[in-house]
Amino acid sequence: MITNLSWSKQTSFENNHECNSLIKIRDFVYNQSGLYFSETKLDSLQKKLSPRIEALNLNSIEEYYYYLLYDPSGKNETKFLFDSLTNNETSFFRDAPQLKAFQGQVLSDLIDAKGEKGHKSLRILSCGCSTGEEPYSLAILILERLGKHLHEWHIEIKGADISHSVLSTARKGIYNQYSLRNTSERIINQYFTPAGNDNFQIKDYIRNMVHFSYLNLRDEASMRTIYPADVIFCRNVLIYFNETSKKSVIAKFYEIINPGGYFFVGPSESLFGLSRSFKLILFPGALVYKKEV
Ligand SMILES: C[S@@+](CC[C@H](N)C(=O)[O-])C[C@H]1O[C@@H](n2cnc3c(N)ncnc32)[C@H](O)[C@@H]1O
Repeated sequence: MITNLSWSKQTSFENNHECNSLIKIRDFVYNQSGLYFSETKLDSLQKKLSPRIEALNLNSIEEYYYYLLYDPSGKNETKFLFDSLTNNETSFFRDAPQLKAFQGQVLSDLIDAKGEKGHKSLRILSCGCSTGEEPYSLAILILERLGKHLHEWHIEIKGADISHSVLSTARKGIYNQYSLRNTSERIINQYFTPAGNDNFQIKDYIRNMVHFSYLNLRDEASMRTIYPADVIFCRNVLIYFNETSKKSVIAKFYEIINPGGYFFVGPSESLFGLSRSFKLILFPGALVYKKEV
């Protein structure tokens, strides 16, 4: 069992070693993913690592650090590391005011602009999509907005995340009542089928509208795999990044978003002090950012 470490009072040499190793892991995680554990969150980092260290039969945080860096079978370890350190909280139709703005004015604006040019295509990206509720909600909103005109449009919705385990859940498209807590009965009846044990599976025609893939927002090579998009949702993800990482990810998003496109961050997040590139648009209960033409 890994002993509890006291960060303010490092009394023994052994604990100093463990503290130093934990800080090295913290820095490794930050460099690889942008997720940042400040000094006050080191206890939480240690707690999240503990089950994995025990499962690997390692005796200390230091051993785990070396396993992560040097053990040949540790090459895949970053995958487990990110799975255990990310917060994957989400739900269908999370933050209704933002989604109302998306389905209303944002889609109208894009539909008009694209329609005028005769480019009837929309590319939407949900970065940090967790188990898929966000991109599937966007697919339903688009489908309901376009109605009988849906077939005239080429719609691409992509969900991307650093955690392989959430992506695998997203691809299955099976959800429990907790995920559907903000979803009306009408939507559940129309777009889901019962899947046993009080679970519901999203219908295939919605599932086929969304493609999922691995993306590390912090990794240049991974970011280069993203195509230009008309709308990027990156809600409740940058909250776990420090200022430097936030700025670089937002600058990258600005490049990727098509002129006239939109950017959504979580309701408790804003671009204040991080970017002046986007134009802020106020909606009732929601902030939305636009890349001007
Ligand atoms: C709290 S969930 C937000 C889910 C959804 N966007 C929402 O608002 O309901 C945050 C997600 O961001 C993902 N994430 C964290 N760091 C990431 C990174 N560097 N690159 C891509 N995804 C990341 C996590 O794995 C997690 O699934």
